[in-house]
Order: sequence, then C-alpha cells, then structure tokens
Amino acid sequence: MDLNKRLRNKKAFDLIMTAEEAANLIENNSVIGVSGFTPSGYPKAVPLALAERGKKEKNFKLDIYSGASCGPEIDTALTNAHVIRKRLPYHTNPVIRKAINAGEIEYLDMHLSMSPQYLNYHAIPNIDVAIIEAVAITEDGHIATTSAVGNTPSFIKNADKVIIELNVRKPLELEGMSDIIILDNPPNRKVINITKPDDKIGTPYVECGFDKIAAIVVTDLQDKTRPLTPVDETSKEISDNIITFLKGEVDKGQLTNSLLPIQSGVGSVANAVLYGLCESDFENLTFYTEVIQDSMLELLKCGKAVFASATSLSPSPDALKIFEEDINFYKDKIIFRPEEISNNPEVIRRLGVIAINTALEADIYGNVNSTHVSGSKLMNGIGGSGDFSRNASITIFTTASTAKDGLISSIVPMCSHVDHTEHDVMVLVTEQGYADLRGLSPKERAVKIIENCVHPDYKEQMTSYFERALDNGAKHTPHILEEAFSWHINYKNKGTMKL
Ligand code: COA
Repeated sequence: MDLNKRLRNKKAFDLIMTAEEAANLIENNSVIGVSGFTPSGYPKAVPLALAERGKKEKNFKLDIYSGASCGPEIDTALTNAHVIRKRLPYHTNPVIRKAINAGEIEYLDMHLSMSPQYLNYHAIPNIDVAIIEAVAITEDGHIATTSAVGNTPSFIKNADKVIIELNVRKPLELEGMSDIIILDNPPNRKVINITKPDDKIGTPYVECGFDKIAAIVVTDLQDKTRPLTPVDETSKEISDNIITFLKGEVDKGQLTNSLLPIQSGVGSVANAVLYGLCESDFENLTFYTEVIQDSMLELLKCGKAVFASATSLSPSPDALKIFEEDINFYKDKIIFRPEEISNNPEVIRRLGVIAINTALEADIYGNVNSTHVSGSKLMNGIGGSGDFSRNASITIFTTASTAKDGLISSIVPMCSHVDHTEHDVMVLVTEQGYADLRGLSPKERAVKIIENCVHPDYKEQMTSYFERALDNGAKHTPHILEEAFSWHINYKNKGTMKL
C-alpha cells in the first residue's frame, strides 16, 4: 500500500501503530472526542480496541463526545462493554438508547451547534484524547477529514492528544471538499461571512500539527451507514403536502421557483420528502443543511439542485457506493463544514433557510416533541433540529398523523415533552394535510391543526377536548390539565390513545 500520497511527512510514518497500541494510550476515566457525524467519518478500529480493553479491565470508563450519531463500532461496542459513562450530544443507536433509558449511561441531549461551543467556553470537561478519521495528513501535520467534519476542529483544538485513523478506503478526492474555520469566543467573535451555501471561508484541512498527534492507525473500514426504508404511501403524501405548501408560497410571490436554501432532517421520512422535489417544478435548488442523504445526491445528479452545504454525507450503503464512484461529479457541488457553521443560527437566519424536520408528536397549539416517547423515554435527541427550526425563515415539522398502527395519535392535546415551542413551529404537516400556523393565535392554530392534520379516527375526540377546554378557565391557550395527558396514560394502560 502506497501511503506517501496520504502521509506527506516522514514524521507521520514513525507514529503508525496498531489500534490496540493506540487504545492503550488512553487513560481510564478520560474524555474522548470522536470524529464523525451520523454514521459517517467516525473512527472504527480504535473504538473497537477500546471495547476489547473494556471487557478485560474492570471499571474502565470513558466519557464520549461526538459530532452526532456514530456507527455501531462506537455506540454498540462500547455500550456492550460497559465503557461509556457519559455521552453527548446525539445518538441514533438502539443499543445505547436502551442503556440510556435503563439509567446505565448519562446522556446530554444537546443542540448540535452548541456542543462545540460548550467545549470552547469550557462549560463541560475538556477533551483528553480526540480520535479522528482522516483521508490524509499534510506535511505540517494538519488533518484532511473524510466524509464528515462534525466537531473535529474543536475536538482537535481542545484535545491534549490526537489519535488519527487514516482510512485508506476513503477516496482521496474527499480532500478539498471541507471548509474549516473555528470561531473565536466572544467578545472576539467575527462575522461568519457566508451569504450563499457555496461560499468558502476557511481552509481545506483542520489545523493540528505533529506535536499533538500521538498515534496513526491505518484502516480500511467502511462506514456502517444505514439502508433507508422504501418511500411508503404516508411519506409520499407528507411530501406532496409540503410541495403544495411551497408551491403556494411561490404563487403568492413569497418565494421564487428556486425556493431558499433547504435544510432537511434525517431518517426515511425526511429522505422521502426530498424525493418529492425530484418530480416537482422547482429548479436550481440549494441546501444549507446538516446531512446529505440519498435524495440530495439524486437531486444534484438530475440537475434539480445545484449545491449542497452540510457537515456530513450519510447515504445508504448503495448510494455511498455510487457517490464514491462518481465523486468527481459531486466534488464541486458539496461542501462539508464544521457543525458549528453548518448549524449556525447567524448563517441560517441570513440565508433564510427553509427547515424541514420530523416530530414524534405535536400538540394542538403547535408545540413539538422530537425526542421523548411519553415524556420520559429518549428516542435519539434533538440533533440539529432546534438550531434550524428556531432560526429558519420557514420552519416546517412533519409527522405521520398516527403511529403504531393507529394506536397512537401523533397530534395530542399537550405534548408530553417539548423540544420546539409554539413560537418556533410555523407549518405542521401530516399525510392528512398541512396547517400554516403563521400569524395565528393559539386557538386559531388549534382549529387549523385539528381540521388539517389530525387523523379522522381521532378528530372527534380532539374536537371534544378542545371545545371543553374552551369552557375551562383562561381562554388564551385553553387546556384541561386533568385530561391533557389522558391520551398518553390511556396508551400506557390500555395500549391505545382512543379513549
Ligand atoms: N409516540 C410513540 N412512538 C412514536 C410516535 C409517537 N407519537 N411517533 C413515532 N413513533 C415511533 C415509531 O413507531 C417508530 O418506532 P419503531 O422504531 O419501533 O418502529 C419510531 O418512533 C420512529 O418513527 P418513524 O416514523 O420511523 O420516524 P423517523 O425514522 O423519521 O424518526 C424521529 C422520527 C423524530 C425519531 C427522528 O426524526 C429524530 O430523531 N428527530 C430528532 C432529531 C432531528 O430532527 N434531527 C434532524 C436535524 S437536522
């Protein structure tokens, strides 16, 4: 294997060691920062070696900070080996979810743009060791990241030492697709000079230097990206409703046919929503978003979209293969940024991003719960949804109107947990229709949501709640507190929200 193209200084070769040797450099009770965002660009070999160490060493514990969700080599392996003490800022892994909900792991569910800021403000314990996947190390010891930037710049900046996983399987063409800057802390912070999604304002590598690099582990392990479920009828209807809403905005002259830069959340519904754009009349679309999934690659390929700025590329395994084979087509159409920039409120508001994210449940006044089933059970986390929804020009939340074969209504009288408040949510979309909530008072919002978004099986029940709430005290945001969670309680006790 010719490593000279990827390791451009002799010093780098002296630092090569096995994953086990690198894992042994990490002290018990350390805080670790891992590269990657969604199962993309994350280290694999060293975390697996740490898990093996955890199986042998009693009470070997680490705090794990990441950009967002990671692959199973981190969240499954380290959870099963009982290594993780604390985890932040996001995950999507069923094994760690179970351990978090069982109280075995402490978890901080954070706005993603805030996670590097907490670190840089020293509001959380500092990183001892950063484990970073790279495609190359420059002559000066700087790091060319792979398919996700995430929190890598802040992790490297703050870490005492850095372990690099040089992934020779990742195409070297990824180098140059990243645009790296680190923000100064206030009062010295400068304007982030991005006025279009394709503006480049930084360097193509993360500054590090050989003094910090403690080990280089050469790997060829592919990201364990997740297959997407096929687009189902409900997702297609949700997508159609969003497009109807957006077309209406174009017809009113509020938006042009190129819309504004779009942010789209993660998961199968989000992916399906964007597939709908492939068949729409919109053109020259751009994205200022977090994650690039299959549908965005397809929109770029078919020419509907012209540019995508994100922090990570996380397509299905099939689409990843296509991307890597055709990387020269995508190279000048995609930028990967640190998540502090991809999710930055200043930039999101300046660009007028249209944010489309997914809710677990919403209530009749427009509050949204994206994270906790029945108020307590963590699903994944808020991710970047709050970064975008609070600052977008149009904030859209989608959800199927029911879950679990209709036994749950995703529209409830009162959310059991609130991530996005009635003040942020502008448009709520289910397969039943959309409710444009802008300019409406709480009572007007409730009428619109019940009319346009609630599933027919729950409409009468919801209308009854709302009408009785209107006669139950203060009339600004009417509720019956004794009943507000009765739907959730009924589901818990009887397996259905139907009363
Ligand atoms: N109550 C209980 N469970 C519910 C529910 C509700 N109201 N609504 C959905 N669910 C369940 C589904 O049944 C499904 O369960 P399963 O895994 O056992 O099949 C699960 O939640 C996921 O729902 P699904 O419909 O498959 O949606 P999804 O894959 O699109 O994920 C979120 C939806 C909300 C969990 C996901 O989008 C998320 O984590 N969002 C928060 C972070 C975020 O928005 N990130 C993007 C920012 S850029």
